[in-house]
Order: sequence, then C-alpha cells, then structure tokens
Amino acid sequence: MATRRVSRRQFLEGTGTALTVAAVAPALRAQPSPSAPGTRTSITLTVNGSKRTLEVEDRWTLVEALRDHIGLTGTKIGCDRGECGACTVLLDGKPVYSCSQLAIWADGRAVQTVEGLLNDPLQREFVAHDAPQCGYCTSGQLMSAKALLNTTPHPTADQARAAMTGNICRCSGYNHYVDAVVAAGNNAGGPRAFQASGSGSAESLAVQTSTIGALTTIGHATHRIDAVERTTGKATYSGDVMLPGMLYARVLRSPHPHARIVRIDASKALALPGVKAVVSNENCKVVWGAGSISGGAQYNEEIKKITKHRRYAFNNPVRFVGEPVAAVAAVDRHTAEEALQLIAVDYEPLPFVLDPEEALKPGAPQIWPEGNLSPNARNENVPIGAKRGNVDDGFAASDRVFEDRYSTSFVHNAQMEPRVCVAAWDADKLTVYTPTGGVANCRTDMARDLGIPPEKVRVVCRYMGGNFGNKNQNQDADLIAAVLAKNAGAPVKLELSRKEDFIGVHGRWPTAQYYKVGVKSDGTLQAIQLRGYSGMGPYRKNTGNIAGVELYQCPHIETSISPVYTNRTVSANFRGPEFPQGFFGIQSMMDDVAAKLNMDPVEFILKNMTRKAGDQTPYTSYSLDECIRRGAEAFEWKKRWRSRPGSDSGPIKRGAGVSFMAFRAGLGRSSAVIRVDAKGRYAVHVGVTDVGGGAKTTMGLIAAEELGVPLSQLDVVWGDTDRCPYSVGESGSRTTIMTGYAVVEAARDLKKQIAEKGLPTGDNVLIASANPNPTVQGKVRSTFGAHFVEVEVDAELGRVRVTKYLAVHDCGRIMNPLTARSQIKGGATMGIGMALHEDLVYDRRSGSPLSAGYYGARVATHRDAPEIEVIFIESDDGLGPFGAKSMGESSKVPSPAAVANAVFNAIGVRMKDLPITREKIVAALAGREVRA
Ligand code: FES
Ligand code: FES
Repeated sequence: MATRRVSRRQFLEGTGTALTVAAVAPALRAQPSPSAPGTRTSITLTVNGSKRTLEVEDRWTLVEALRDHIGLTGTKIGCDRGECGACTVLLDGKPVYSCSQLAIWADGRAVQTVEGLLNDPLQREFVAHDAPQCGYCTSGQLMSAKALLNTTPHPTADQARAAMTGNICRCSGYNHYVDAVVAAGNNAGGPRAFQASGSGSAESLAVQTSTIGALTTIGHATHRIDAVERTTGKATYSGDVMLPGMLYARVLRSPHPHARIVRIDASKALALPGVKAVVSNENCKVVWGAGSISGGAQYNEEIKKITKHRRYAFNNPVRFVGEPVAAVAAVDRHTAEEALQLIAVDYEPLPFVLDPEEALKPGAPQIWPEGNLSPNARNENVPIGAKRGNVDDGFAASDRVFEDRYSTSFVHNAQMEPRVCVAAWDADKLTVYTPTGGVANCRTDMARDLGIPPEKVRVVCRYMGGNFGNKNQNQDADLIAAVLAKNAGAPVKLELSRKEDFIGVHGRWPTAQYYKVGVKSDGTLQAIQLRGYSGMGPYRKNTGNIAGVELYQCPHIETSISPVYTNRTVSANFRGPEFPQGFFGIQSMMDDVAAKLNMDPVEFILKNMTRKAGDQTPYTSYSLDECIRRGAEAFEWKKRWRSRPGSDSGPIKRGAGVSFMAFRAGLGRSSAVIRVDAKGRYAVHVGVTDVGGGAKTTMGLIAAEELGVPLSQLDVVWGDTDRCPYSVGESGSRTTIMTGYAVVEAARDLKKQIAEKGLPTGDNVLIASANPNPTVQGKVRSTFGAHFVEVEVDAELGRVRVTKYLAVHDCGRIMNPLTARSQIKGGATMGIGMALHEDLVYDRRSGSPLSAGYYGARVATHRDAPEIEVIFIESDDGLGPFGAKSMGESSKVPSPAAVANAVFNAIGVRMKDLPITREKIVAALAGREVRA
C-alpha cells in the first residue's frame, strides 16, 4: 500500500533530476509528512487573491490541484519533474515549479498563476516582442519574469536571462523573452495597447532588404491574432480539455530493447477499484499505419497492403525500450499508475543492437526476419541512392582527394507540450482532441487504422505546444486512447510523461557519413561520394536520407545511404528531417577541404555552391550568392575568420564559421473556404493548427491583403475537421505556401462573387472555396540562406560560447516580419543546441536510454541562446501567395554546420561527431579520442 500511496512522489524523487531535488529538498524538510492513504486533507490557499478551500489527496501536486481541481489550466506541464519551468507559479511571491510541490504544502499560502496577471505590462511586452511562439512555455516565463520585476524593477538582459534560466523554450524565443522583460522594466515606448492584432510598432525588427513592391497588409509587423490568448493562459491546449466522466490513461512500456512477450496477466489491474479498461497486444490488434511506412513513403492503402514491417499499437515482440505493452484507463491518473504496477508481463529477452553500422554486420541480431536494412516502398532491401556522372572518372581527374567520416546523434524534437490525447465516442462517432499539425491527416489516419469512415472521426486541435515534426500524423497514443474509450464506454485522456515522449514518440535519426571528395588544386569540385548509415529504430517512420551533397555543383556524384533498423527509439521527422545532420557532414567536409587547400571557405563556397538544382534545372529565383556576399560583409567575415585555424594565443580562442543552404519551397495542394456575411465580416476557414509559426495570423494577413480589407474585419477558423476544409499538414514548411495559396484563390473567387452579386443581405452569406494543386513547371523552387557564426572556445575547459550569430535568408516575400524573425532565431538556436549539446545517450549493456528528458538531453536554455541577428533578402518569383517561400525549417538546417566550422576555426582541430561536447573538445585538443 505504501507504494501506491506515494506513487507520484516516488516519481518525482526517483526520476527527477538533481535540479528537482535541489528545488524540492528544502521544502521537503519544512513540510508535514503525507497523511494516510485514501484520505483527503482540507487546505485553504489564496489563489490570485481569492481564498480557496480544497480537499486534496496527499499525493496531488500543486500543479495538479491548480489545473484539475481549480480549473486554472494556464499553468502548463512540460515535464512534471522539475526540468522545464512550464509549471512555474509564485508561492508567497517566490517562483516555484508547481509540479515539484505537493498541494498540501500550499496550505495557508498565496499562489499566483498566469491568470492572476491579467493586463499586466509584462504580458503586453510579451505580445509586442512576439515572445510566445507556440505559447506553451509562456506562463512559466511570465511568472519567473514577474518575480524578477517584483524585486528588480529595471532588470538588465543578464538579470532577465538569469531569472528565466529555469524556463525552457523549445521554440527558442529566448531573445524575445529577454527583450520583453527588459522593455517591461524600462517601460520602453510608454504604455502599449493590449491588442491581438494590427500593425506592430516600428521596433527593432530584423534588417530587411527588399526590391519588391510593398503591399498593404502583408509585410508589416503584425502581432499574432491569438497572442493575447497565448499570453494570458486562455489558450486551450489538448491537455486542458476536460470532459464529463473522463477517465485517465497510462501506458506500460517495455523495459527491454528487444523481447518476446510470453504472457500478460492484467487480472490484478482489472480488479483494482477504479480501473475501467486494460488493453494490450492480446486484445487490441489495431495497426498504427503511420508508425511504420515502407521506404519512408507516405502511408496509404497501397503501402498498407505490401508492407512487411507492420506496426501495431501494441507489438509482440517489443523492439525498443519504451515500446507500449499495455494501457490502462481508470477514474484518475493515480489509480491508472497504480494499475500499471499490477500488470504482470513475462518477457523472453532477445539479442539487441543499437548502432546502425553494427546492425548491418554479419551475425548482428535480426530485428525483422528480412534483415536490418529497411526496405524501400517496393519492399526491396537496397540503400537510397543518387548518381550523376561517374565518380571514378571524377577522382581520376582530381588533383587532390580527401576522405573522412562524420557522425551525428539522435536528438529529440522535445516540443514543450508532451503528447496528450482525449478521445470520446458519441455512438459511432469518435472525437479526438490531440496536438497535431495536420487535423485532416490525423483524421484520415485514425479512420484508416480503426476501420471506420473518415466522416465518423472529428479531430480538434485548438492550440498546440510545438511540433517540429513529431505531431504530423496520428500517434499511437491517439489510437490507444480511442480504443480505451471505446472499451470503457467513457472519454479517456491519455497523457505521456516527458520521458515517455522522448522515448515513445520519435526524434532525429543519428547518422554515420563517409565522404570522399575530389578537387582540382584551385578548389573546383570534381567528385563527391557519400556512403551513409541512418539509425531508424525498429520501425521506418521516415526516409532516413542524408541530404547536402546536392548543394554543390559537381559533375560526378554518387550517394548510397542505408536506413537501418536498430533497437533504439524510433527516428523520423524533426525540423528539416534529413538536412541538419547531412548539412553538418558535407559542409564540415568541404570546410576541411578548403582549409587543406588554404582557401577561405567563403571563396570555396562561392566557387562550388549550387546555381542550378542538380546542376541542370534552373531555380524559379536565385539569391544564394547575395545571401553569402551580404552576410560576409555584415558579419565582417574577413576580420573574424582566422586564416590559420587555432592560431589565437592563450586558452581562450576565437574563430568563425560559415554554412549555406538551399531548401525546398515547392507548391502543392491545400484548401480554404472564406465566407462573408451581410455586415461585411469575413470568416477564413483553414485546417491549420498553428504549431507556433504564426500560421493563423499569416492566413489572416493573406486573406486581408487579397480581399482588400483590414485584418480586424475577419476571423480565422482553424483546427477542427468538422469546421475546416482539408489543409496540408503543418510540416515541411508548407502551410504559408500551400494553404496560403488556397486562401488567395478562395479570396479571389469571393471578390468575384461580391462584384457580381453585391454583399449578401439579411441572414444570407456568400461562400467561396478553393482546392488548388499548383505545380512548378521546368524549374525548381527553393529558399536560400547562409549562416555566419563566431565562437569563443575555452581550450582548457572545452566550453564553447557563441559570440556572434548572423542568419541571412531569402524566404521569398516576408509575410510578417515580426513572426518571421522569431522563426529564424528559433531554428538557429535549436541548431546550436544540436551542434553543442543534445544527445539521447544509451547504456550499451542494457539498451536503455539514459538521458531522456530536458536536463539529460541538454536542450538549450536561456543561458545557451546568443543574440541572433537576422537579415532577410526578399524576392518574389511570382509563385506561391505573393511570392512567399518556406521558412520554418530553413533556419535550422545550416546552423550545426556553421557552429562546427567556427569551432574548427577557433581551435584548429576538426570536430567530426555531434554534439561537440566539452569532453570531446578537451580530448581532441589533447590528441585523445572520445567514443561517439
Ligand atoms: S518543471 Fe514542472 S512541468 Fe516542467
Ligand atoms: S513558445 Fe516557448 S516552447 Fe513554444
């Protein structure tokens, strides 16, 4: 019984980090012990100025009491273990992690949450500075900043950073949060109007170079239309949904990297009072279609028929630590957690393999009967490849030939909102409240997997706390919640913990990249050969490709990339799926070639970079040379770059690095519906959910521009398959281009109708819809950019500090400079994290992940985020909505390469394995090797 009584306390103490313990320990000593199990204690606390009396269980945390029992859902849970700060509230005026406080400890004390800050100047500055992107971390940032301002009314940027350093923002809006706090202290510009939309002030926006004509609404800094909701705690995320009679679900996960399940006995769990349903492989045979897709192709009925590596909601054998084994629905989350401990599972452990290169060796453990090389969409076990010319001829024609190996690690999307799903059946219609970047895709997936018509599924996502690629399709959590809800006859909320999200969803695939490059002595490329290996985990959820070779003009190219099954967490989409890791490899390799030829890397890039796609097809517009030349000038490249790498005397060494990118910006199908009523009010229906990039606002701006009305005259309707048409999912940086194009088409149609019929009268409305599927003929549409980084490396401690960062981007026409710069800064900061910190480390003896979570995986914090400068070079190729191109992913893809090249320039030793940790730098400078 004791185990049951303190299950969540045990969780906090057992799985929390040193940070948690440090935060909680003084309070533990000061507080009374929990009372007997099953009893409730009456506590009285003052919440946002009002006295509240609650009957609480000893095991309830403060955040649980606030959210579930008082209804203050503005306080969020990002980790539930003291690592992220999303749950920060003020307790007697001091900031605390409310997930690390028991509710009984708040007895007699004053709690302030984001809801108690209404119309605070700090919130207004957050809106004005576009600090919230997805908004999931915003309440926590606000409360930490509020505590600072209470004691330090005019903080410096460093003080703001220090106060919020325990508040992670995975969208990486760190610069803007700090700016907003400093501005609140300075009350810069006087009092601001607290409004959601309209033109922003002429604050220090990113530098913008434009030779294209100005528009009326587009291109002006505009606050997000939902900024107030995201800043006041009013935005409703999937985890905030509460339904009458709702049950809570938890998942039992495999402790083994590879094992056959011999027996599952759930009888004791089912006998526990409050348990309503238990599902496992024995009574649930639902196939999770999007969880394993042959060849990384889009999962569809055809693939479903031929795939040999089908993935179920519950699989036997289990193939990685964290794979679902069973799930429970019970009257509350504590009972569900207790029930998991009562499920007896007999496993027969099987041999496992973690490393993709090891997995292809003869005698390696076989994860699937057909072998560990993942098959393509035709079920052929062959690598992915590209070929142009003949590399043997190219190497023969070269003056110098270089070979090297680069590698990258598994990094997790780590979006702030962990996976959560609420599933409810009304007769035969299923409603799923889930964080998804594509409500329409998710509906299709759910219907296919459950074998019901799409019209019998409604998917709702009002707000979501980040995506970065792991919320595009349905997830197994959605299916498990739906099946439990069906079996239990009640709505079910399934919440994943931060650790489960890390190991149970997916992250970026780790790679090993072997390059061979031939050049003339003047640096002209002759041949590039790449042999690569990608670790996909035991299911193929994406391509596993390694991009980057296509960035170069070169007559002879050959790539062969093996997507390999391993017994690790699954790999799939993450902000530019195959790009950041590939760009790191090839652009480190080329930077090294330039160094060995004694060439300035900027000159080498300008000589060899792509000017036509695949060296053959012209781009619709081209600005890569301008990005590099303008960037080099603004960055003062010649001054910062060391012609002799590592030549600074003393232990503190500086150096500069550069990288560049070209990234897809193609057109494609999406749809939109626009309605106007007799009062001239417009409603723009789009199936977007706004993962944090500002899609709702962008769709509004596009509609307003085309309709010729102010943004305030229209409403955007989003995130609900029963109210919105199909729109392309918010992945692949497609929303602005594709759904925006549909909005333009629908607006044109509506304008035509109004011109012909006049505005409607009475209760009538006019409706226009568009479902265009434009294509680019004979050309390739791409976005371009270049990143310049200066670092300072402490050669004794291995510490790297980014001292200057400049990102230059051509993303076509900039729709909204305010949100555009947030996107670029966020991606660049995330790339710095990938370059220097992030890794999911495994225990090679047990096959268990060791660092699943924000703290262990070393996700970037306020302290790690430098000031990012942004230059936009605008262009309009006449395609897309008003010339807009892609943006969301493009800022991350060149970042790790630029940072790594800067580290080389500073220390004179090439770091070939990401992340470039302190330990690796110290070892490299000492001439030792650190095992990847
Ligand atoms: S620190 Fe409490 S939810 Fe992350
Ligand atoms: S705005 Fe901070 S996590 Fe999204």
